[in-house]
Amino acid sequence: FSHYKEVADEILKDSYAIVIDLLRATTTMIWAISNGAEKIIPVEEIYEARLLKNLNKSVLLGGERGGVQIEGFDLDNSPLSYKKEVVFGKTVVMTTTNGTRALKKAAGAKRTFLGSFINAKKTAEYIVNEALHQGIGTISIVCAGTEERFTLEDILCAGYFVELFKESFSNIYLDDLSIASYELYKKFENDPHEILKYSYHYNNLKKLGFVADLEFCLKKDFVDLVCEYKNLVVEKV
Ligand code: MLT
Repeated sequence: FSHYKEVADEILKDSYAIVIDLLRATTTMIWAISNGAEKIIPVEEIYEARLLKNLNKSVLLGGERGGVQIEGFDLDNSPLSYKKEVVFGKTVVMTTTNGTRALKKAAGAKRTFLGSFINAKKTAEYIVNEALHQGIGTISIVCAGTEERFTLEDILCAGYFVELFKESFSNIYLDDLSIASYELYKKFENDPHEILKYSYHYNNLKKLGFVADLEFCLKKDFVDLVCEYKNLVVEKV
């Protein structure tokens, strides 16, 4: 379990990684795929996104800087913007401040999945199944954080994944940060807002008027698919 800047490449390369940017990048990408987007191409820089649009006018550009839509882009980073009628059958090129960078970093893992509350159970089930058949050694939970720091919302979601894995593996070894995330999650699972009211990014999004996003991103397991980042693209498994 680590922040994406701290995860050691040698641990990552033998792991199945789950990248979490709960608010909002990984939740938004998963929701876009769930609403029929064919694939997401995460890029780090705005100019890369614009270049891809120049090459192919039919792609949609999405993402944020400072939490708000980038000039000339089709979509912001709110999951609620990625409606079926907007994204169905489309390729979406996305650039966000932290989430897309964390994904790139975690691409060094054996396999790299996107994590969120909205499809956590399905993702954990898939990984458990793989572990039973392929014998995965390590699962690394990679938190995107905000502005190079851990954020409470990613840690809560990580704690939920830890719970799901604990239920499946009797002999799981958890590092200290995984245990901390689990304990925090258990304390606030019924009222996550109670702890998130102290989160920097949660408050930031609130100030920007994205209150509905906060509710949306905290809802559990209503999406029944698994998303993987592979060959520079996010697709459904
Ligand atoms: C990010 O990738 O930094 C976040 O998803 C930002 C946001 O919530 O818009």
